Amino acid sequence: MQFTYSNPTRLHFGQGQIAAIASEIPKDKKVLVIYGGGSIKRNGVYDQVVAALSEHQWQEFAGVEPNPTKETLDKAVAIVKQDDIEFILAVGGGSVIDGSKYVAAAAHYEGDGWDIMTGQYSVKSAVPIGAILTLPATGSESNSGAVITKKETATKLPFRSPEVQPRFAVMDPDVMKTLPERQLINGIVDAWVHTCEQYITMPVGAKVQDGYAETLLKTLLEIGQNFDNRDNDTWRANLMWSANQALNGLIGTGVPQDWATHMIGHELTALWHVDHGRSLAIVQPWLLRNQIEAKRAKLEQMGRNVFGLEAGDDLAERTIEAIEVFYHSLNVDTQFADHGLTHEEAVNTVVKQLDEHGMTALGESQAVTLERSREILEKALA
Ligand code: NZQ
Ligand code: ZN
Repeated sequence: MQFTYSNPTRLHFGQGQIAAIASEIPKDKKVLVIYGGGSIKRNGVYDQVVAALSEHQWQEFAGVEPNPTKETLDKAVAIVKQDDIEFILAVGGGSVIDGSKYVAAAAHYEGDGWDIMTGQYSVKSAVPIGAILTLPATGSESNSGAVITKKETATKLPFRSPEVQPRFAVMDPDVMKTLPERQLINGIVDAWVHTCEQYITMPVGAKVQDGYAETLLKTLLEIGQNFDNRDNDTWRANLMWSANQALNGLIGTGVPQDWATHMIGHELTALWHVDHGRSLAIVQPWLLRNQIEAKRAKLEQMGRNVFGLEAGDDLAERTIEAIEVFYHSLNVDTQFADHGLTHEEAVNTVVKQLDEHGMTALGESQAVTLERSREILEKALA
């Protein structure tokens, strides 16, 4: 086990915490508030931001779409450059926060921001960012990653840089009250799969990371099982906190990480606009079955410690079934039919995209080659 770990995002968690941005953002900085399609105008979050920024000089950029596109974000990049913006406040879910990270980094670069996504440019500095989270799912509020789509080519790629990690994040569970059921479920599934990506690999004896991952999985399982009681402060707070902890870097330190489900899922989103969380549930069970021998020991551990399953030769198989049952209990599909193509065309299309994007050796041991991805997609796509 060898790692360097720091999570420098200061978190303000709890009801009424949006007011904290007044002192978090220096008053002498020109601020750009970035948000999405307007949910914040309907749930009082925007009004709280306006009140908190009463002594700041600020302007806004609206319209960041779910699965944010370079095409939209480049308009914000131009504003940041033109108006000498010195601080970005992202108010929204993963898409708005990820989009703001791209804007923050691209604004400090002369060339095309997409170079950040292809790796042609490695981020050297960025406009400082703060975040007000409105949808618990991605962990983007306190991590250094972002996923951006180029609409023109249906390409969805991730980038990471410590420069774009938010300086602070506000996590007020009250903002979740207006979330559609579908988005709440997406958040549960996304946080669940984030934990799995860092846990269902191979045993390396990392007791703390494994134990904490199991606590997060048990919490998310219970949250899902209690979905009917979701109009409840404690339920909301536990979901918001577990989704954050699932991808703030801690459980992934010093352990192997998978992420193949995410990389294949991104293609489904880029091609057919499948919600991010749902794309994961479509891919993951089939990927786990495809890779079951390499992952058997951790699947057995998860079966015992998360689902409380009995020992047996088929424990790993039963663990995957339990994961699938969990998704189905939330009415989340584990197969995708809405691609409008024949089965063969759909599989070929995704494999081609994976190839073009260099996703040819995925997973903790780079064992998910294009051939393996094809086998997985044969099952995942109807
Ligand atoms: O745009 P608005 O009007 O705000 O509506 C949004 C959007 O339509 C709505 N919403 C958000 N908060 C709301 C609300 N509606 C009512 N009340 C509220 N409080 O929800 C819709 C979806 O929002 P979005 O931000 O797209 O969802 P999510 O947080 O799931 O983010 C998904 C994006 O994050 C990326 C995904 O790939 C995807 O692009 N990811 C980012 C990661 C990271 N940075 O670490 C990791 C993840 O694995 C993921 O890949
Ligand atoms: Zn995710």
